[in-house]
This record gives sequence, structure tokens and C-alpha cells, in this order.
Amino acid sequence: MSMTMEVDQVRQEEPGGNADFEWNAFDSTLYHGRNYVKPYPNDLVFVEELRDFFAAELRGGEGLHGVDVGAGANLYPSLAMLPFCAKLTLIDYSTSNVAWLQRETQGYAASWDPFWETLAKAEPYSAIDKPRLLLGQRAQVEAGSIFQLPREKWDLGTMFFVAESISEREEEFMAAVRSFIGTLRPGAPFAAGFMENSTGYQVGSHDFPAVEIRDTHVKDSLRSLAEIRPPIRLEAGDDPIRTGYTGMILVCGKKLTNTES
Ligand SMILES: C[S@@+](CC[C@H](N)C(=O)[O-])C[C@H]1O[C@@H](n2cnc3c(N)ncnc32)[C@H](O)[C@@H]1O
Repeated sequence: MSMTMEVDQVRQEEPGGNADFEWNAFDSTLYHGRNYVKPYPNDLVFVEELRDFFAAELRGGEGLHGVDVGAGANLYPSLAMLPFCAKLTLIDYSTSNVAWLQRETQGYAASWDPFWETLAKAEPYSAIDKPRLLLGQRAQVEAGSIFQLPREKWDLGTMFFVAESISEREEEFMAAVRSFIGTLRPGAPFAAGFMENSTGYQVGSHDFPAVEIRDTHVKDSLRSLAEIRPPIRLEAGDDPIRTGYTGMILVCGKKLTNTES
């Protein structure tokens, strides 16, 4: 083995950082088609949990400003915040996802109807007649990085399959969670979803990274930042579409009021 090959091998084994991947080549249409056109039962369970959590925490609340960080091609976290928000900001780093979100929030596809129907089984969601129209009016899409968010800006927030799915470096997973919590106001309720033990994912011909995390990593990342409910873990099961992970984890909680994040 030559010295050059050894150096190359060492380089390949170094975990890739967020900046090492081609986020602008993220095929939003393909990702949406694979993951959300036919609702995956675990996602619908998460939607029920989001509904019940936000409804309980924000009882009667409205006129708030919510944020979904790393929104990608997924509207269900935003739909779960819709009744409580006068403004709803969807942030993503990828130009293709930002363009997709700008189109999709202005008249979303019928594939999101089953997600809304799940939400609309309870108040305050059930009082909204035209969620499609309302999302178009309240949503604003922004390009931005989770690592450069404003501090203590939003009243409630979501972050689904982002912190562990944008890098292979555990320190970037921790920094992403910290930054997400940091962008919320003290006491703000939030929900975050994580892929358990993901080894990375492919969208079309592009590979994207992941940090292999479990619920202990999630709890550690939030320690001293938030008061959380026990995480909900759903087994991946036999799913031929989404492979390379063992389960999905949902954490709901509130940012602590005395955190330094
Ligand atoms: C696995 S996808 C999750 C998308 C969506 N939230 C979902 O629930 O399916 C990861 C998302 O993180 C976005 N992303 C990558 N790097 C980011 C960064 N530095 N800041 C914010 N978002 C980023 C990607 O563009 C992509 O939309």
C-alpha cells in the first residue's frame, strides 16, 4: 500500500461535516415522494403526539410566531403549529428545499390532507376550515443555517430529522440541538424528531450524512436546556423505502427559562 493510499483511507474515515455535503442538490420532489406521499404510520403517530402536545401546552394560544428548522420537504410540523401562529417561518439551508417550500406552502398537495385530517380530529385544529389557505397566508420561507439562527426569537418550534441528519460529526449534532433550543424564547414549547441509529441516506444519486444516535444522545443534547417529556420511540419495522435506521424518536418539551443556550 502506498503512502498516498494510506492518507486517502484515513481521510475517507474522517466523519464528514455539514459543509461537506451537496445540500443544494437535495431532490425535494423525490424526497417528498418517497417519504410523505403515502403517509408512513409512524409519522401519523408523531402527528397525533404533536397535536396533543401543542394543544395542551398552548391551550387558547394564538397570534404566536413559530419556526420549523430544516423544514426540507415536510409540511407536517408546520401544520401542527398552524392554529397557534400568526406567522410561521420555515427555514432550510438547501436552495432546492427553499424553492420547494415556497411553492408548496402556497397551496399544498393533496398528499398532506391525511396529515391535516389527523390533526383535525381535535381542537383547535378542528375549528380551521381552510388549512391550505391559512398556511399560505401565515407561512414565510427563509434560507438559513441551523448553526446561525437568531437567539430567543420564536414562541414555539419544531425540528424534524435535522440535527442527526445533516452531519456525521456528533459535535455538530449537539451544536444543532443547542442552536435550535437557543433560537426559542424561554419557556417555548417545541417538538423534535430524530432517526435512531441512522447510517445516512440517499436522495436520488446524492448521499447525505447522519450521526448514529439513540434516545440517550437526544436526552444528553437537551440536558440543562429544556424540560422534556419522556421521548417516544417507534420501531422502524420492515420498511423497504426508508432503510438504514432502527427507529424514530420524538421529543416534546419546553425550553427552560434560565438556560444559557
Ligand atoms: C433529513 S432532511 C429532513 C427534512 C424534513 N425536516 C423532514 O422532516 O423530512 C434534513 C434537512 O436538513 C436541511 N439542512 C442541511 N443542513 C442544514 C443546515 N446547516 N441548517 C438548516 N438545515 C439544514 C436539509 O436541506 C434537509 O432539508
